[in-house]
Amino acid sequence: MEKSRGIQYTYGYYSAMNSNHARFTLANHGVRPPKIRSACELGFGQGLSLVINSAVTNSTWIGSDIEPAQAAFARKLSSHYQNRCKIFNESFEKFSDNPSLEQFDFICLHGVWTWVSASDRKVICEFIDKRLKPGGLLYISYNTLPGWASFMPLQKLIALFSDNNRAVTSSQLSNLAESFKFVDRLLDTDPAFLKVNPAIKQKMESMRGQDDAYLIHEYLAADFTPMTFDEVARWLTPLNMNYVCSASITDDVSVMHLTEAHQKFLAEIKEPIFRETCKDLMVNKTFRSDYWIKGAEPLSRAGIERELNEFSLLLTHHSLDVKLEFKGTLGKANADEAVYRPLLDLLSNHEVKGYREVIHSMMERGIGETKAAEAIKMLFASGYLAAIGDEQNSGAVAEDVKKLNNKIMDRSINDELKIEFLGSSIIGGACLFDRITQMHIRSSLSGQKTPKELAESAWETVKSLGRRIKKESKTLQTEKENLEYLAAHSEKFLIKSAPICRALGILE
Ligand SMILES: C[S@@+](CC[C@H](N)C(=O)[O-])C[C@H]1O[C@@H](n2cnc3c(N)ncnc32)[C@H](O)[C@@H]1O
Repeated sequence: MEKSRGIQYTYGYYSAMNSNHARFTLANHGVRPPKIRSACELGFGQGLSLVINSAVTNSTWIGSDIEPAQAAFARKLSSHYQNRCKIFNESFEKFSDNPSLEQFDFICLHGVWTWVSASDRKVICEFIDKRLKPGGLLYISYNTLPGWASFMPLQKLIALFSDNNRAVTSSQLSNLAESFKFVDRLLDTDPAFLKVNPAIKQKMESMRGQDDAYLIHEYLAADFTPMTFDEVARWLTPLNMNYVCSASITDDVSVMHLTEAHQKFLAEIKEPIFRETCKDLMVNKTFRSDYWIKGAEPLSRAGIERELNEFSLLLTHHSLDVKLEFKGTLGKANADEAVYRPLLDLLSNHEVKGYREVIHSMMERGIGETKAAEAIKMLFASGYLAAIGDEQNSGAVAEDVKKLNNKIMDRSINDELKIEFLGSSIIGGACLFDRITQMHIRSSLSGQKTPKELAESAWETVKSLGRRIKKESKTLQTEKENLEYLAAHSEKFLIKSAPICRALGILE
């Protein structure tokens, strides 16, 4: 019996599984992206990525997860567009043999590979072999060695303690807390292991701020097997899969992560899998999220340009909120204001603009094509800029997304689930909106306009839930304090977020 079964997982949205994100990343990497009409997510958790990705485009998505409560949750969210979102509650093994399945253009697994048994990994590989079309794309993410190497003995202790303790604790949550306390006490004795691996203390600290349900799934799962890149490649290459690139473009920007000595050393290694494995050691990689393709078609320079020109761009953040600073393994680096400011100015009205149109406008401002393309890539990779594919979405999709967003806001606000993503049919993707912003969106949709109206409506909701606003970990006690906070929040919402929501089709 899987120990984390029954504990509800977190409600994340992972853009790497979004087809626009995947296709733009591949095109930038010089590999022809497949058209994605049919896609599949294995082990979808609460299914937020699955239900949003299937709502926002005309593609059909299918997914399976063994946890019934999660499958039921995802089914409820997507019940009004079941024609494009089919949710199964089957084990990978059973799902793999499901005769109703055809072949897919895109198969995704986020955070699954590390947490399943070797026999399930075999089933997953057979699924990829059988169900991914030639030229089809695979997204797979997993915890990585060497980054996890020093923590593994502690993870084993946490899991072992929890196993032994299970009979006497009232719940998995208290069991988790007890296990952490035990390991803390052990480390307080200053064991020799800690002297050799001092970074594990920091790792324990960083875990303390994380969501309990996430920690239970991450550390108390029956299987937890971080792997080196070459080990994963040994599973995938026999299926005729070619490694393409990281789903996070910035991972492949060498100057952000590798010293000159690293780069020189790696340049001598010609075999890509071995080079990537050595690179992971240089950056002490803890997590990889990768694209693999069943038969890669490299693009010429002109081909890359043609593919990129098919995209449009939309700035999903207020231009003044864009941090012109990029963080890599080597530390932080400031972006060149002379390139990025004109780009942000061009996009600051949140209108959808063609990729080529943006490059031309930048060139008119005296900025070279390569620099402009690089800046677009970096803003996209940092989540500030949406790349929109050429596929036209019908009006029906927009209606489905509106209904889905209403359901999401209902669960997030009324049931206090931490769901912070809403879909957009305009960008064919999702954007992050915290709970109070969702309250303002809901009030705006029902006709409230002024900061005062929005603040009062949000306060009514907060009050009805028996809550108070928390500001910088301090709970605001009086009505006056809460209303003042919400008034400032709603003013900012009307100035910054509302225009973006209108551009995304979330508000009219
Ligand atoms: C660590 S969680 C990741 C969930 C989700 N992908 C996410 O990142 O939010 C792993 C998921 O795989 C599912 N799972 C594990 N083994 C499975 C199996 N044999 N068949 C189907 N689903 C499985 C679990 O129920 C869980 O939802």
